[in-house]
Amino acid sequence: MAIIMLIRQEHFSASHRLYHAGYNKAWNTKTYGRCSRPHGHGHNYILEVSVCGIPDTTTGMIMNLKQLKLILQKKILSKVDHTHLNYDVDFLKNIIPTTENVALAFWNELDQAIPKKKLYKLKLWETEKNSVEILRS
Ligand code: NI
Repeated sequence: MAIIMLIRQEHFSASHRLYHAGYNKAWNTKTYGRCSRPHGHGHNYILEVSVCGIPDTTTGMIMNLKQLKLILQKKILSKVDHTHLNYDVDFLKNIIPTTENVALAFWNELDQAIPKKKLYKLKLWETEKNSVEILRS
């Protein structure tokens, strides 16, 4: 059996700061380095979402890309693009916005919105060199 995925990629820009309020400045600097600086910094993120399923016998599609685009826009991009992730996003409140935590929060938002558990993989690039992938297990 083969797995077939339909993939959509989106871009957004946002600021964040990595800082654990339960620890002192020295711990935060040691742990997060320059990412813990007080006023935050920005990234141009890339989000890639893969849905998995059997192409419909009538439409030939796993999922209509127009529908996937609208879900991504409504649930993620409209909430995170040109924001500060520590302060501006309801579903990111009270988490440290590492790439892992942001990707997991995106997964939870999208898994509720994409029908029939078709969400299969989510990949979030924070930089060209660093990314996180989440796969349905
Ligand atoms: Ni950063």
